[in-house]
Amino acid sequence: MHSLDHEKLPAHVAIIMDGNGRWAKLRNLPRIEGHIAGVESVRDVVTITRELRIPYLTLYAFSKENWVRPKDEVRKLLELLGIYLDKELPLMLEKGIRFNVIGEKADFPGTLQAKLVEVMKKTARNRDLVLNLALSYSGRKEILNAVTRLIEDVKKGVVKRIDERVFRKRLYTGSMPDPDLLIRTSGEMRLSNFLLWQMAYTEIYVTDTFWPDFKGDQYVAALREFGRRERRFGRVKED
Ligand code: IPE
Ligand code: IPE
Ligand code: MG
Repeated sequence: MHSLDHEKLPAHVAIIMDGNGRWAKLRNLPRIEGHIAGVESVRDVVTITRELRIPYLTLYAFSKENWVRPKDEVRKLLELLGIYLDKELPLMLEKGIRFNVIGEKADFPGTLQAKLVEVMKKTARNRDLVLNLALSYSGRKEILNAVTRLIEDVKKGVVKRIDERVFRKRLYTGSMPDPDLLIRTSGEMRLSNFLLWQMAYTEIYVTDTFWPDFKGDQYVAALREFGRRERRFGRVKED
């Protein structure tokens, strides 16, 4: 399938799904139409990730900073998220996908929070793919939260020595592996506060394609490029 070398596939893919607004603008459509079209790309990418048996996928859907966008766009985005959850839950159950939110669930309206928790609970025993959706997510906030929890645990005597292992356990991603590959669509060469701790050694792939145009073939191209990368982790090149 997809003629990819399975040994060189990432175990964790993170994606900054960017460019919905520009996609819509190009077509003289309201920005929300770009977000709606982007849901199709989410579906494609989730399906392929599962088919390829990549165990972790983290999608940046809404940043902590995105709350300052026009009220109407935010409202419609939240509405779209609710529709997505309702629609995808049966598929997640059928396909063994475990849904997980990283970010500040508490920032969302009560009904949406309840829905997020419901989907997380109902899919909690699924094992084929962990789908992390980053919602009201901030990498810096995540690190500060982990620090706060760590201080509490030190006070309680639960933690004696602070090292990377005890720290990372207190991040939203807990015991998940760090992303091997970060994909960002629509050409921007920045992290936008995404998974700052976790991406220390992540391979970065940026494509000019807008998110709603990022479909299966584009994803496979990114994975193929990942397979060609030489990861060194500080070592010298091996012959
Ligand atoms: C990404 O697309 C989706 C969200 C941030 C919610 P944008 O809405 O950022 O699209 P551009 O960057 O304006 O084109
Ligand atoms: C990052 O995209 C957040 C998401 C894709 C959800 P933005 O469009 O918000 O990032 P900036 O503002 O261009 O850095
Ligand atoms: Mg953007």
